[in-house]
Amino acid sequence: MTEQLIDTFGRRVDYVRLSVTDRCDFRCVYCMSEDMTFLPRSEVLTLEEIGLVARAFTELGVKKLRLTGGEPLVRRDITRLVSHIGQLPGLNDFAMTTNGASLRKLAPELVAGGLQRLNISLDSLDAELFRQLTRTGNLDKVIDGIRAARDAGFQRIKLNAVILKGRNDNEVLPLVEFAIAEGLDISFIEEMPLGDVSDHCRSETYCSSDDVKERIESRYRLTESAETTPGPSRYFSLENSPTRIGFISPHSHNFCGTCNRVRVTVEGRLLLCLGNEHSVDLRAVLRSYPGNIERLKQAILNAMPLKPERHHFTTDGDVQVVRFMNMTGG
Ligand code: 5AD
Ligand code: SF4
Repeated sequence: MTEQLIDTFGRRVDYVRLSVTDRCDFRCVYCMSEDMTFLPRSEVLTLEEIGLVARAFTELGVKKLRLTGGEPLVRRDITRLVSHIGQLPGLNDFAMTTNGASLRKLAPELVAGGLQRLNISLDSLDAELFRQLTRTGNLDKVIDGIRAARDAGFQRIKLNAVILKGRNDNEVLPLVEFAIAEGLDISFIEEMPLGDVSDHCRSETYCSSDDVKERIESRYRLTESAETTPGPSRYFSLENSPTRIGFISPHSHNFCGTCNRVRVTVEGRLLLCLGNEHSVDLRAVLRSYPGNIERLKQAILNAMPLKPERHHFTTDGDVQVVRFMNMTGG
């Protein structure tokens, strides 16, 4: 019998999210401050180290793996890591979160390497607003990337939109229309209090999933779907369209009870919960015992009792977690 990852609350961990870089070509207002400093290379795991971490998790029964960032596609040779992970036995769901800007170039290689699903961030269809929210992003390039990904043959593509009241809440219906027209799924996300973003006051921009859902229901009929996916989205279906609408609601619908996932930052910190600082330093193990997968697996097993029962995010604007999302893995 292979060892399995089970925490103190009986939750089975079978989903891991690996951050492959803290860097990004965008500076989204909810994710980064304008003048982010990034990690020096020596503190970042090598692609070989990340590959070993991925293998250790699959040998411990992990079946679902997502690569995140920062922006995974700005990491040099990322397609090499994708091809390595794509061949690991036991993995049945292999996904990536991306801002979409590099997909025209990389989508075919990612599919060939075994990547199955993409989540692409898209918060607005208005070029000027898109630029404001991402600070550096070019909407046309992202839309072109989304279409390139669709043509490359991924099993599933989902758009992710973080909705901020007074900023892009008017974009909800256009985004749903776009998802339907392009044949994609879409999830709406409540902003999480990660890192001190100077751009806006989070208590003023808080927009609950119920608000977003109400806007959608002014035009479409949503039917709750029984379907469960690896992530924390609740899904609804539309009449006469295969597009599914999801809501990720860390504030208004706590999903900790069914949490099946852990994260590894690009510094090799194993984070047991998005909303807590509990972590274990896997980089220390990797660098003390290079290439030793058994040591790594033991460190991961030993970390399981640290997984907290739940996060304690609030909407009052108090920063709960000092890590920014790009340090966490979206
Ligand atoms: N709250 C919620 N989602 C966030 N993301 C980044 N920062 C935050 C935050 N503070 C999401 C983006 C993107 C992914 C990388 O992480 O929507 O899809
Ligand atoms: Fe980059 Fe994604 Fe963060 Fe935006 S949300 S700055 S695209 S990592």
